[in-house]
Amino acid sequence: MSRPRIYVTRQVFDEAIALLEEAGDVEVWQGNGPPPSETLGAALRDVHGLFSLLTECIDAPLLEAAPRLRVVSNMAVGYDNIDVAAATERGIYVGNTPGVLTETTADFAFALLSSWVRRIPEAQRYARDGSWKHWGPMTLLGSDLHGATLGIVGMGRIGEAMARRAAGFGMRIIYHSRTRKPALERELGLEWFGSLDGLLPEADFLSLHVPSLPETKHLIGEAELRAMRSSAVLVNTTRGEIVDQAALTRALTGGVIAGAALDVTDPEPMRSDDPLLAMDNVIVTPHIASASHATRLKMAMMAAQNIVDVFQGRPPTNWVNPDMPHGH
Ligand code: NAP
Ligand code: GLV
Repeated sequence: MSRPRIYVTRQVFDEAIALLEEAGDVEVWQGNGPPPSETLGAALRDVHGLFSLLTECIDAPLLEAAPRLRVVSNMAVGYDNIDVAAATERGIYVGNTPGVLTETTADFAFALLSSWVRRIPEAQRYARDGSWKHWGPMTLLGSDLHGATLGIVGMGRIGEAMARRAAGFGMRIIYHSRTRKPALERELGLEWFGSLDGLLPEADFLSLHVPSLPETKHLIGEAELRAMRSSAVLVNTTRGEIVDQAALTRALTGGVIAGAALDVTDPEPMRSDDPLLAMDNVIVTPHIASASHATRLKMAMMAAQNIVDVFQGRPPTNWVNPDMPHGH
């Protein structure tokens, strides 16, 4: 094959582009946001490698129109924006960036939780808008993390990192996950719940860390929100689709739960007139849990390396196709 052509769907770190250039000719979409789907489709007709972001919908028709494509590497650990089965059918590797963002993402999930319980966004508004006239014994009272119960749903890499932070803060930690983690239970004193229904009424705060899959869509819906404590706070840093957002909005309006801190929404970006944005008991951030400088650089390098690997004749360092045929 002549020199591979690699398409990058956003301007990323120069170091990652330089790494890709070791393996092929690189074209970078220069727009501010994601390339429009027609632009991406047209670009892919002739491309061998794709460096994508979670904003791109890499579906079967797009892959079908990319006859030369051999690898798609997402600069994210999640890859629910890619039709992995369709890619596998065509012998296209799908790469992702697990591990390098775990601690940074858990830092942020814990920061969202702390911000909510100690009312930090509200306190900043209070300090800025002139409301701060004197110190008050009853001003901006929040609740404690220490001694409270954190429920974690999805005890994978980020769920575990969240549990470690909570253990350091003296919290009781309960969890529900697909697979039980006995060694971690012993190490951190975690309590396992085989059913989500059993866990929900026990948690003061609930933090979601399962991937977006058909079976996790709306995992938290009307019934689950009703099963939670009326004082409970929901933290979502995984994917917006895990929560039925209409049900969440109703629950927050009706006092079914106390609040939510959301780094991910459905859809993204959240519409500027979404009622959740106007609620004082809701914190919304624009999908930035992995956004530290160092971590985003590691993610970009890992995503680039996945592509380089393929053009140097080996599978990507991190790839997710479960049934990739041999010989690729
Ligand atoms: P991971 O290590 O694969 O962990 C996911 C965990 O969820 C695993 O323990 C898995 O169980 C469990 N799980 C899967 N399906 C389940 C189900 N139906 N019910 C209960 N548990 C289930 O993934 P990770 O690296 O922690 O990342 C998790 C997700 O975080 C990513 O998929 C991504 O969507 C999101 N994320 C968001 C940001 C952000 O910027 N906001 C940043 C990074 C990641 P097993 O142990 O049995 O596999
Ligand atoms: C971010 O959301 C990721 O999946 O890495």
